Amino acid sequence: MYAEEFLEEILAPVHEFCRSLDTNPPAYSYVPLRTDQERIRVMQSRLFNELRAADLFGGWLKTTPEFDVKTTLADSAHEEMEHAALLSQRIRDLGAEPFDYKPLPAQIAMFNAMEGLNETCERIAGFSLAGETVANYLIQICLKSPDVPEWIKQPYRRITEDEAGHGSVPQQFLRRYAITEERQERARRAVAMRLVLFREYLASLDRWAMGKDRW
Ligand SMILES: [Fe+2]
Ligand SMILES: [Fe+2]
Repeated sequence: MYAEEFLEEILAPVHEFCRSLDTNPPAYSYVPLRTDQERIRVMQSRLFNELRAADLFGGWLKTTPEFDVKTTLADSAHEEMEHAALLSQRIRDLGAEPFDYKPLPAQIAMFNAMEGLNETCERIAGFSLAGETVANYLIQICLKSPDVPEWIKQPYRRITEDEAGHGSVPQQFLRRYAITEERQERARRAVAMRLVLFREYLASLDRWAMGKDRW
């Protein structure tokens, strides 16, 4: 399959996933939250995501032969640590402990599954393309909502500036490298896996952050 056609194909379920969140934005977007206690919980959970993202990007360096991808991974690892610094500072400002957080089982599963991907295209497709597209979509919903307080929007305005380029970079890499049937198939499956796991993480975060269930 030609690269362009392939990209369109793997982006379709990601965009559909995003649209499915429109009518009922999840706790992850902060929109349905009503107390600072709930908001701090979500921020702690998202701080954990930034740290795990840095782990994954950094951990893949050694097994990434493509020079351009390797460079981006190294930059991304650093950038995710900056996001982690912003969020942890914000949580401390509110008088809470940023790392007093136990990751949700679905959240652990999502990152461990991504960490287990072995090949450049499936990593980019599952982790960067699918994950960051959904995350950025939800950040935009957060920034537009009148129900989200300014103290939350502030760090995410900074984060979203960094993430602005992340949508197109993975696409370029996939255009360049996902050019065999095998690589395309692995990338397709990685996107599907990411979306299944992301859905469960969002549902768990909804229940846990809003005090409806243990997780
Ligand atoms: Fe980030
Ligand atoms: Fe990111």
